[in-house]
Amino acid sequence: MALREIITPDNPVLRKKAHKVTSFADPKLQKLIDDMIETLGKAEGVGLAAPQVAAPLRLIVVRLPDDDASREEYGDQAGVLYVVINPEIIRASDELVEGLEACLSIPGYYGNVERHVGVTVRGYDRKGKQIRIKAQDWLARVFQHEIDHLDGVLFIDKAKEIYKVSRREEDDDQPVQAAEVKVELNPNE
Ligand code: CO
Repeated sequence: MALREIITPDNPVLRKKAHKVTSFADPKLQKLIDDMIETLGKAEGVGLAAPQVAAPLRLIVVRLPDDDASREEYGDQAGVLYVVINPEIIRASDELVEGLEACLSIPGYYGNVERHVGVTVRGYDRKGKQIRIKAQDWLARVFQHEIDHLDGVLFIDKAKEIYKVSRREEDDDQPVQAAEVKVELNPNE
């Protein structure tokens, strides 16, 4: 296993539509999955999509934290590793909920995004077996965020407000304009 570099919006792969995986037995795919799991763990994130490590494939890994607080709140879902290839949301609750999101590809920012409370995700595991996952609440949010990455969509596209993480306490939670954030995220401007 090896760590992969997590790309930011200055790399165009992050904005491209990812390709479907067609060969599950490909050793390169299996290596990519192992590397993504390791990279996600090191970054202490809850989800990572292949385009975030510059691999334009429809593949995500998701794992909620496994600490006591997470186990209490999320029960069986805490700490479970989900590797989903060619994931699709086949059902989504009518009910929507707003919640805070961040992204390993957009360090230093977070925002409130409206998502479906529950989703059913269909896809394939790393051996090519079809799987179906019913996710609620935070897990459902993470799946929606990660699956968006496969179409080049980032949470900053959907966030109602975007906040900049600040070390200075008086600046905490200061909303910044979305346009301003996009400019700051683009090193070419
Ligand atoms: Co993300």
